[in-house]
Amino acid sequence: MSAENNKGTAVVTGASSGIGAVYADRLAGQGYDLVLVARRADRLEELAEKLRYAYKRKVSVVAADLADDNDVRRVEQAIAGDESVTLLVNNAGIGGQAVVATADADAAERMIKVNTIALTRLTRAVLPGLLARDRGGIVNIASVLAFDTSFGGIYSGTKAYVVNFTEALHREVAGTNVTVQAVLPGATRTDFWELAGTDIDSVPKEIVMTADDMVDAALVGLARGEAVTVPALADAAKLDTFLGARQVFFGSLHADKPAARYAG
Ligand SMILES: NC(=O)c1ccc[n+]([C@@H]2O[C@H](COP(=O)([O-])OP(=O)(O)OC[C@H]3O[C@@H](n4cnc5c(N)ncnc54)[C@H](OP(=O)(O)O)[C@@H]3O)[C@@H](O)[C@H]2O)c1
Repeated sequence: MSAENNKGTAVVTGASSGIGAVYADRLAGQGYDLVLVARRADRLEELAEKLRYAYKRKVSVVAADLADDNDVRRVEQAIAGDESVTLLVNNAGIGGQAVVATADADAAERMIKVNTIALTRLTRAVLPGLLARDRGGIVNIASVLAFDTSFGGIYSGTKAYVVNFTEALHREVAGTNVTVQAVLPGATRTDFWELAGTDIDSVPKEIVMTADDMVDAALVGLARGEAVTVPALADAAKLDTFLGARQVFFGSLHADKPAARYAG
C-alpha cells in the first residue's frame, strides 16, 4: 500500500459510547487502523471486534481512566512512540451543570482533568511525531457551551479552554501538512445527558442532533481544513463574524493608561 493510501492509525478517546464510537466507525470506514481509549474495556472490545470484522482494520484497545495521572501517562507513552499514528481524536469528556458553590470538588477536578488536561497531554504526546512526519491531524471535541456560561462555569470553562487551545494550535501548525480542528457539537443524543443528570427528551427535539449526523458533518469540516467546526450552525458567516469581532475587540484591550471611566 502506498504512503498516500495508508491512512495510518487514528487514536479515539471516549470511544466506548456516543460520539467517540461513531468516530471509530467512520474512521475505520475511511481506512484508518484504530486505537480505542476509554475506561469500559468490555465496550471497547465489543466495538473493536465489530469494526475489525466490518472494515478489516487493525483495532486495539487501551483501557484507561483519563482522570488518572498514571493512566494518562501510560496512554501518552503508547501513542507518542507509535509512528503509525496519524490522527488523534480527543473526544472523551464529562458533562454536568454543576455550579461552583455546590459542586463536588473531586468530580469537578475529574471533569477538568478529562476535558482539558488529558486532551492537552495527549496532544503534546502525538504532535512532535505528526510534525516530524508532516502529516495527520488532531481533532478536539469542544462544545457550543464554550460560548455560553448559563449552565455552570466548570463544564463551560473546560470547553472554552478546548476552543482557545485548539485555535492556537491551528495557528502553531500553519504551514505544515498537519491539520487541527475544534469541533463544537450542540445538543447531541448520547448517554452524556443522562450521565450529567438531564433527560435528553426534555430538550426540544428540533435542537437535538444524532451522533451520526454530528460526526459526519465534523468529518466534512475536517476534510475542508476548518479550524473550528460547528455542525449545527446553518450560516457559516456568523462564525466568521463572531471570531472576527473578537479579534477586533482584542485590538482595543491594551493601553498605557486605564480607560477614562476608571479615573478616581
Ligand atoms: N452529547 C452532547 O450533547 C455533547 C454536546 C457538546 C459536546 N459534547 C462532547 O462530546 C464528547 C463525547 O461525549 P458524548 O456525547 O459522546 O458522551 P458519552 O456517550 O457519555 O461519551 C463520553 C465518552 O468519554 C469517555 N470518558 C468519560 N470519562 C472518562 C474517563 N475518566 N477516562 C476515559 N474516558 C472517559 C466515556 O467512556 P468510559 O465511560 O468508558 O470511560 C465515553 O466513551 C465529550 O467531550 C462531550 O463534552 C457532547
